Amino acid sequence: MEFTDRPRRLRTDGIRPLVSETTLDATDLVAPVFVDATTDERVPIESMPGHERVPVAEAADRVAEVREAGVEAVIVFGIPESKDPEGTRAYARDGVVQEAVRAITAETDAYVITDVCLCEYTDHGHCGVLEDHAEDDPTLTVENGPTLDLLAKTAVSHAEAGADMVAPSASMDGMVGAIRAALDDAGRDEVPIMSYAAKYESAFYGPFRDAADGAPAFGDRRHYQMDPANAREALREVALDVEQGADVLMVKPGLPYLDIVRAIREGYDHPVAAYNVSGEYAMLHAAAEKGWLDLDEVARESLLSMKRAGADLIITYFAEHVARQLD
Ligand code: PBG
Repeated sequence: MEFTDRPRRLRTDGIRPLVSETTLDATDLVAPVFVDATTDERVPIESMPGHERVPVAEAADRVAEVREAGVEAVIVFGIPESKDPEGTRAYARDGVVQEAVRAITAETDAYVITDVCLCEYTDHGHCGVLEDHAEDDPTLTVENGPTLDLLAKTAVSHAEAGADMVAPSASMDGMVGAIRAALDDAGRDEVPIMSYAAKYESAFYGPFRDAADGAPAFGDRRHYQMDPANAREALREVALDVEQGADVLMVKPGLPYLDIVRAIREGYDHPVAAYNVSGEYAMLHAAAEKGWLDLDEVARESLLSMKRAGADLIITYFAEHVARQLD
């Protein structure tokens, strides 16, 4: 057989690194950290091996561990001491995230991002305030306008505690604009917004909802998070967030939505983030535990794929694990 194109010539150990199109660095990764106001000691998260809810007093230590592995950025989630219908502990000056951010910024030089949402703080577990309805009416909906005010207050309180960046994830219309305006009014115009712009109503969030205690008590999030069937709609969401001042555009989940990452990469010049979510982490761990997959390899390959699709940064529970391998 006659042929001259032999791609295998470029696959020897010597040349592979020279021709590789994509690289994965520890500095691309953001590690999630769960801070829990209801505990004095670290509590392992069963469905997310290697992750714990840490008390506020240990938040900075936890971040120092992440830094030690070579990861420079964290995203902080909080589990408050109490919940109510308006999620008031989300925007309290002495709330769990606010206290944790103060400690982390005082004791480490990590880049600190905060998740801005109400679902961990409302007693009904939805991402905003509910419209008037019968207590357990499954057709209820989250009221957009009043929720925007609370999200804006939450973002400002995080910035005032010292957060370097805020990441709104409540999937409310106009969320980014409301937060931008509130930050600017509060004199925080330097704080960027990483918008969960294309956030799907995904079954891959299961372990997170255990970890952060944020599962809806009734109903689901279909009336505010995106339908997994839709790609063009993600581009509309992104366009709206860009118009409202988003600085970084996030796609969530990651692996099942690489087409969306690619589409945003091609359509925009903003940095694109992929969120490699809790279910993606849990499934690889479960398979590895059974001896069916090599955890180191599949973790790295997953993250590399997100980079290849066009992500500049990746929020991932594998951050420490993979950073150690890359070291
Ligand atoms: C808060 C929020 C969620 C996640 C990140 N921020 C939960 C949700 O939307 O249900 C999920 C992250 C993960 O699964 O790793 N709204």
